[in-house]
Amino acid sequence: MKSGRSTNYLSRSDAISLLKKEGCNESVIRHSLTVSKNAKRIAEDIKANGYDIDVEFIEIASLLHDIGRCKTHGITHGIEGSKILKKISPKFARVCETHIGAGLDKKEAASLGLPARDYLPETLEEKVIAHADNLVQGEKIVGINEAIKEFEEKLGRGHPAIKRVKELNDFIERLRKNAHKKRPL
Ligand SMILES: [Fe+2]
Repeated sequence: MKSGRSTNYLSRSDAISLLKKEGCNESVIRHSLTVSKNAKRIAEDIKANGYDIDVEFIEIASLLHDIGRCKTHGITHGIEGSKILKKISPKFARVCETHIGAGLDKKEAASLGLPARDYLPETLEEKVIAHADNLVQGEKIVGINEAIKEFEEKLGRGHPAIKRVKELNDFIERLRKNAHKKRPL
């Protein structure tokens, strides 16, 4: 599986400094730290199962996925974050754009008032970060059933975006299956 690896990422402390510099509040920073921890653990499990995955990119990009919340907490925070990070790296920018739920297709994006195009996670790294974020409510890591319940409360049962969240969960969890037996916790 292709991972689209590159090098020269920001350090963890540089990423946290950037969140502060752009004006993210403490709760966004604490949420981002939890998502990063969760995403890194998932990525390490997937790597332990022999897949090519860029754990370092995932750790740093997930710290920055919500940087757009320094501008707005609305649905456009993904795009706002992308604008900020484009100057640093288009790969980081893509993570901001594709992390909402399990991504949005063109039709959903347009119905939410976003520029009409697909915002779907494509690389394994983008998928892991979107999934890891779906499993974090505030600063708490939750199971998929609890995560789905929250989406249903927000979007209504049967919303197509929820089916995609479930499918992403199944895809990622298949890749990390039994990995804890292969590496120390
Ligand atoms: Fe977000």
